[in-house]
Amino acid sequence: MQDGSAQHGSAPRAHPLAPSWLTARRDTDDLEAALLPADAHRDAEGRLVIGGVDVETLAAQHGTPLYVLSEADFRARARSFREAFSAAFAPEAEVDVFYAGKAFLSTHVAGWAVQEGLCVDTASGGELALALAGGVPPEKIGLHGNNKSDAEIQRALDAGIGRIIADSLDELERISRLAVAAGTRAPVMLRLTPGVHASTHEYIATAHEDQKFGLSLTPSAGAPSTDADGTPSTPANPYLGSPAWTAASRALQLPGVELRGLHAHIGSQIFEPAGFELAAQKLITFLASLHSAYGVELPELDLGGGHGIAYTEADTPRHPESIAAALAATVKQACAEHALRVPRISIEPGRAIVGPAGVTLYRVGVQKDVQVDAPDGSTTSRRYVAVDGGMSDNARGVLYDADYSAVLASRRVTGDHALSRIVGKHCESGDIVVRNVYLPTATARDDLLAVPATGAYCHSLSSNYNYLTRPAVVAVADGASQVLIRRETEQEMLGRDTGFAAG
Ligand SMILES: Cc1ncc(COP(=O)(O)O)c(C=O)c1O
Repeated sequence: MQDGSAQHGSAPRAHPLAPSWLTARRDTDDLEAALLPADAHRDAEGRLVIGGVDVETLAAQHGTPLYVLSEADFRARARSFREAFSAAFAPEAEVDVFYAGKAFLSTHVAGWAVQEGLCVDTASGGELALALAGGVPPEKIGLHGNNKSDAEIQRALDAGIGRIIADSLDELERISRLAVAAGTRAPVMLRLTPGVHASTHEYIATAHEDQKFGLSLTPSAGAPSTDADGTPSTPANPYLGSPAWTAASRALQLPGVELRGLHAHIGSQIFEPAGFELAAQKLITFLASLHSAYGVELPELDLGGGHGIAYTEADTPRHPESIAAALAATVKQACAEHALRVPRISIEPGRAIVGPAGVTLYRVGVQKDVQVDAPDGSTTSRRYVAVDGGMSDNARGVLYDADYSAVLASRRVTGDHALSRIVGKHCESGDIVVRNVYLPTATARDDLLAVPATGAYCHSLSSNYNYLTRPAVVAVADGASQVLIRRETEQEMLGRDTGFAAG
């Protein structure tokens, strides 16, 4: 039987249950630096400090679980996307970076994004209301969604937002009707599905898209060979009869609609530029077809979000400069080949801006060493470390099998490390926060654990499962913390039950 621990000092042997990428810990600092916000370090007592505030102080002031967001890290990442993409596309085109608010949105964060020169993307009436409340100028807001209600479209028109990203023909018609009734013209982008799916290092290209978003570039079976205008199908226009072509043709005719450009979003957690480049080429070919059919050169092209981040040591994201350089070269070349001006470019990173800026703090509770049959036939042990949150504050493990890492944050200890699984307190065996991590064997009840890279899609996907109240979100900067979203109270949560009376 193996004891499940990795030796300190000597060359650590791999635990039979550990994934091949997981390094047994000796000095944790190097690994932590790659995953934690740039302004995180350990103080003389070994406590993790983020934005100048140590984790015990944060936990004492705000409780746990606690989402901690480094303002400086968020701002630096926002700036680096804006600067990298603007530089890469200059002088031919200007770039707008839309922060994808679905990753995490609060009024303060919306304000940081705008102060760093970004626009803000929203995906519902609620996100739109929050962006407006955060002072984002309406012209810097985009509205997404595959099933926008009339009320959401109306809200966008009333606010005068910069763009509505239309997802269907049905929606285009409704935008037109509502805009005409309001005596305005809606700035519209069309979301297309270019048949490129990307994730991490690979992409796949398919003709057909089996998903709910956007308008396909592939002609529907039995589609007519002329469009609504009678534009003939020629070999130069492979899009006739496609939902995308039908919608674009219609958008160019509809009153109350100002078709500004095309949009595509090809996936998430993408490290390599090849998928973005292929999608961009396809959209530019479509732009060229619109140009030759209707003489219209649409002025904007949105290449979506999905830029990858490091959740664990296995992830090696590229710097925005590298993605931007590759993409700009491809876009410029494709436009030159089609004799088009390079359109104004936009991108929509969410996770890559707010993800690494966030850390979740948990208190350690119960620990168990569980005997497990390893794939190599041996019996080994895995340590289960239960914390005071779980799938209600981080659903990504359950939803996407997502991997995370973690560090003992309240003190530095030397000695052996045990292969550990950090689990939550929900009545669900899949309630796993960190699947595999080496934690010091000395990790004890009431220690604080920090799970890095939880700024994106954790609070925004949080729930009240098992009637746990949702944690607070605090920003740290210059040695002070500020509550962005306060902890939910039990009264707020249970008070929605009409028979509940606080006892
Ligand atoms: C249309 C669109 N844009 C941007 C994003 C942001 O993606 P990420 O946070 O991975 O950058 C998403 C995420 O699903 C999206 O659907």
